[in-house]
Amino acid sequence: MKVWDIYTRLWHWLLVLGIFFQWLSGEVLDDQMQNHALIGYTLLGMMIFRICWGLIGPEAVRFTRFVPSWTTLSGYITKSNKAIFVSHNPLGALAVLAFIVLITLQAASGFFMEDEIFFTGPLYNWLSASTTSLIAELHEIAFTGILLLIVIHIFAVIYHRFKHEPFIVKAMVTGNKPLTNPFQPLPAVQLHIRAWLCIAVSIISVWLLVNHLPGWLGVEADFY
Ligand code: HEM
Ligand code: HEM
Repeated sequence: MKVWDIYTRLWHWLLVLGIFFQWLSGEVLDDQMQNHALIGYTLLGMMIFRICWGLIGPEAVRFTRFVPSWTTLSGYITKSNKAIFVSHNPLGALAVLAFIVLITLQAASGFFMEDEIFFTGPLYNWLSASTTSLIAELHEIAFTGILLLIVIHIFAVIYHRFKHEPFIVKAMVTGNKPLTNPFQPLPAVQLHIRAWLCIAVSIISVWLLVNHLPGWLGVEADFY
């Protein structure tokens, strides 16, 4: 049965590519800062999309359906015989939330960065120099958090893949899991309308944040 819709799957694999490019352009290459910012804004938009999708998307990706209560979470952690969840399991759900929070923080802190050569983020001149440099530290710390989470995520996926869910990685590619899906599927037209609504919300939000927020906050425009 179809569990992951096409937008969620595209979102996941574009996220993997995006994070890889941000690592490459932030840590390895030194002439890619404009593209680093551009992909950073795109990743911010993708987080806004996922929040919107978690509110109005199909049931399997909705926060109300997969974010666990304390009882479900502690029950899952303490039980040795783990149930198979059609959407994310309770620990996986926490990882999804942590990814969204960390990547949003990372992209937002980028607005305060500069590379001492060519690039100045849109909010670089907004706060005092000491606050801005603290935020720049956050840009490094949050990325360490993201890397750590990626390592845990990949180990968790491999563990479940070999322990009792041989289909999970394939399911993030094809969308299908050989399980009875208890969720109501969205009719195709509804799925696309809702997805494009979320895409529009995220594009407009990022455009306002990058192009207009500095003006609203009275930040002196630098070249960015
Ligand atoms: C940069 C690296 C990665 C990041 C940031 C990342 C992030 C995420 C996020 C946020 C989700 C939740 C999807 C949603 O609900 O919208 C997810 C799910 C998933 N990811 Fe990744 N991922 C990464 C790499 C990988 C890799 C390399 C694999 C394959 C080996 C993988 C396999 C999966 C699978 C199978 C799921 C679904 C888990 C489930 O069934 O509960 N991910 N990932
Ligand atoms: C989720 C999105 C982002 C990720 C994962 C990311 C990741 C990184 C990483 C790993 C570094 C290297 C840190 C270091 O030198 O120790 C870096 C540096 C930097 N990032 Fe980002 N970044 C993101 C978004 C942004 C955005 C949106 C901007 C600007 C608007 C930005 C601007 C910068 C700047 C100016 C540097 C400093 C480069 C230097 O020191 O030469 N980043 N980023």
